[in-house]
Amino acid sequence: MEKQMKIIGFIGSPHKEGNTAWIVNKILEGAKEEGAETQSFNFSDLDIKPCQGCFACHNGDGGCVISDDMQKLYDNLKDADALVLGSPTYMGQMSAQAKIFVDRLSATNHPRFYPKFKEHAAIKLILVFDQGNPDSSLFQTYYDYTKKMFQMLEFDVKDVVVVTGMRNGPAHEREELPTAMKDIGSSLALDKIRP
Ligand SMILES: Cc1cc2nc3c(=O)[nH]c(=O)nc-3n(C[C@H](O)[C@H](O)[C@H](O)COP(=O)(O)O)c2cc1C
Repeated sequence: MEKQMKIIGFIGSPHKEGNTAWIVNKILEGAKEEGAETQSFNFSDLDIKPCQGCFACHNGDGGCVISDDMQKLYDNLKDADALVLGSPTYMGQMSAQAKIFVDRLSATNHPRFYPKFKEHAAIKLILVFDQGNPDSSLFQTYYDYTKKMFQMLEFDVKDVVVVTGMRNGPAHEREELPTAMKDIGSSLALDKIRP
């Protein structure tokens, strides 16, 4: 039997039932319908401290030495095939919660400490941003930069999903979104998303 794809969603919003959570969960729902194993973590439920820049992850053999909920995420990341990282756009960038997580991901970029993390194919990644403003071009430079940054970290970035116009009503009231988001998840599970 073919191995199930393991996909982890990360919700970088303070709102457990906000737009970001809804969008990430719809993508995961689509993936699950195609047979993927999915789970999600909401940063508002977790205690994740900012990177202290101590370089213990470079210099020792124990990985990141900060004792907090990120250790649980490192364990889960080791056998993940794909990630869906969602963040609301705050002041034209990802939220502080998401940025703290991304900085802490830096410890996974050292195969010496996380041999399993890198020994298989690059982890697939879908980046999700949702913004109040209806103009999708406003923060495009930042979204493009973020994609490039993850590619430099050797993630296989499959898509950058930008959902706009949240100031006009919540995601769950938008008729076109459930199908569009689920399609992105099912394509990820079937690995059909364009490179
Ligand atoms: C502190 C803060 C800053 C924001 N900055 C922006 C922004 O720069 N551009 C924008 O279009 N929307 C901005 N928004 C709106 C959010 O991106 C939008 O409402 C998002 O869908 C909220 O997601 P959530 O429901 O998961 O919290 C901001 C909201 C907050 C609270």
